[in-house]
Amino acid sequence: MVRERNSLFSFRCLSFIIFILSIFSVSLFLSCGHCWGQCYYSPYQILEKKPNQPTIDDLRSYPFAWNHLTFSSSDAPPKLLKIALFVKKWPQRSRAGGLERHALTLHLALAKRGHHLHIFTTNSSSLPNHDPLMTNLHFHLSKPTPAGYLDQASVWEQFQAQNSSGKPFDVVHTESIGLRYTRSRYVANLAVTWHGIAYETIHSDIIQELLRSPQEPPPKALTERAMKVVEEVRFFPNYAHHVATSIHAGDILKRVYMIPEERVHIILNGVDQEVFKPDIFKAREFKQRHGIPEDSKPLVIGLAGRLVKDKGHPLMFEALKQMIAENSTFQESRMRMMILVAGDGPWAARYRDLGSNSVNIKVLGPLEQDELACFYNAIDIFLNPTLRAQGLDHTLLEAMLCGKPVMATRLASIMGSVIVGTEMGYTFSPTVSSLKKAIYEVVDSGRAVLEKKGQVARQRGLQLFTANKMVAAYERLFLCLSSRNNGDDFCRYTY
Ligand SMILES: *[C@@H]1O[C@H](CO)[C@@H](O)[C@H](O)[C@H]1NC(C)=O
Ligand SMILES: *[C@@H]1O[C@H](CO)[C@@H](O)[C@H](O)[C@H]1NC(C)=O
Ligand SMILES: *[C@@H]1O[C@H](CO)[C@@H](O)[C@H](O)[C@H]1NC(C)=O
Repeated sequence: MVRERNSLFSFRCLSFIIFILSIFSVSLFLSCGHCWGQCYYSPYQILEKKPNQPTIDDLRSYPFAWNHLTFSSSDAPPKLLKIALFVKKWPQRSRAGGLERHALTLHLALAKRGHHLHIFTTNSSSLPNHDPLMTNLHFHLSKPTPAGYLDQASVWEQFQAQNSSGKPFDVVHTESIGLRYTRSRYVANLAVTWHGIAYETIHSDIIQELLRSPQEPPPKALTERAMKVVEEVRFFPNYAHHVATSIHAGDILKRVYMIPEERVHIILNGVDQEVFKPDIFKAREFKQRHGIPEDSKPLVIGLAGRLVKDKGHPLMFEALKQMIAENSTFQESRMRMMILVAGDGPWAARYRDLGSNSVNIKVLGPLEQDELACFYNAIDIFLNPTLRAQGLDHTLLEAMLCGKPVMATRLASIMGSVIVGTEMGYTFSPTVSSLKKAIYEVVDSGRAVLEKKGQVARQRGLQLFTANKMVAAYERLFLCLSSRNNGDDFCRYTY
């Protein structure tokens, strides 16, 4: 009896130990061995591991971000391509939003590398005063539809004319639905880059609905979005190849949109590494010019971009208001934190009002690209409260390349591809309390910690988010797509 009880006891004891051990090993696995405690686990981190084999036989099936690979961008391209680009609007250099900025950075760089670019865009575009020596950059303008889209019949005619004059196009690229699926389905050597798909946007809709005040009318978006996803799942297969700008979007394209994996390629956005880089002199000069106290005190938190609702500014505004009201450390005399806002939009005036009651909020207005680089250098951390779950936000990448830590909303694209751990910044839920908590944590952790995170951010930026990386990856993809039957080995990669 006693023995029986003993063995029963030890059996229970053993299974308890096994249970504890298994929990322990699971948590060990989840933490990926890179940090403990406050660390969170990003399910996409595992996708960054290098495979063991020395070559990739077909890059088209490579499941990770191409940014991890090294394509020598210093050498001349092995072959010059004739590339068609469809983009709704060709932007002015300094005033470009996400999609347009991407189009500009990528295609100007490809033209600089000697490829022949034919850009099909609307004549509402403010046309380029680019280097007139760039004779390999051709614009084909057409009148936009009343809704501002490319008129498909006109651009198709222009495209056909170009395709049959001289050399046919090696590859066709469309930024989002620049070229619609009704025409794209006739083009085999085509890639579309998505800067936001409906499935991702559902997360934004949910957040917006949760933040909506009872006075505001309910948006139609939430109820219509699911049908939009179904519509996209139906028409996306009409595009031969898909480029996802985040790991998360790539996963959705493969899993939810059911596009065969060899037709989905992940190329993360990149930003100009010559413009966005650490520069202490620029930082000092910028601070002097804008009357920001030098060094030690206070900690400068920077916000930049369009100051609109879906970029999370109502949330940020409310958080600041509450913090100023409840916490004396944010009052003038013992100022520990300062908010620097660059950008334009309805919330600029609201921040300005808030700033008139306490000196620690400063609104600078919109900044040109070079000034923006100085701005990033002058701050201690960059905060992006965006509620837009779609695409991959450029401002975070710019701040990281300037060597600054970043904090942003917990959106899958950001957590999976940008702020993948606490080593480079902070993330928060899109609620006022979570945002406040994150800001308090930043202020309490102090400058030394932020500087260290900033260095990690810069390393990650250099590894993944430079324009060079992005351009090299697209060039290789285009070479690979253009070489389908003529025996070139552009789809093969050797580490
Ligand atoms: C665009 O082209 C249409 C017709 O080709 C013309 O009527 C219109 O004025 C043009 N718009 C601009 C801004 O050039
Ligand atoms: C472009 O021209 C080539 C060569 O004539 C042809 O094979 C191809 O189908 C054309 N592309 C389209 C989309 O018409
Ligand atoms: C006031 O701010 C500090 C950080 O500067 C923080 O540690 C503290 O918890 C805040 N107090 C309140 C009441 O939120």
